[in-house]
Amino acid sequence: MTPFGIRKRLKSLLGGKPAAAPAAKKKFKLVIHNGKGRTETYEGEIGQSVLLAAGNVSAPIASGCSDSSCATCRISVLSGGQHLSPQNATESQTLKANNREPQLRLACQAVIQGEGTVEVQGFEFLD
Ligand code: FES
Repeated sequence: MTPFGIRKRLKSLLGGKPAAAPAAKKKFKLVIHNGKGRTETYEGEIGQSVLLAAGNVSAPIASGCSDSSCATCRISVLSGGQHLSPQNATESQTLKANNREPQLRLACQAVIQGEGTVEVQGFEFLD
């Protein structure tokens, strides 16, 4: 650290400009419907897949593979799709290979990237 750097640091410690507060982590809210009247909600920090986030509710969305090939975790996005990563080639190939509607998403691939509420309907659950 240069002498100027030390001077700046001392100045800030002795009443200069206050240090900037750490940035608040961006949050999302995930609302999961099971299609049979049950709705669960989870709030977390962005950057998680829908499947990972859904693991925090009492009846998580089911998963059946570790290579995004089974489509067990398929979901229908009801609202807030703009907060999710775009559908990738793996998702569209897996949905097609498993004879599922192309507009569905795979919870294991869809990452929550933006602040806001994402509302989904799952089809298979661990309950
Ligand atoms: S868990 Fe198999 S495709 Fe998502």
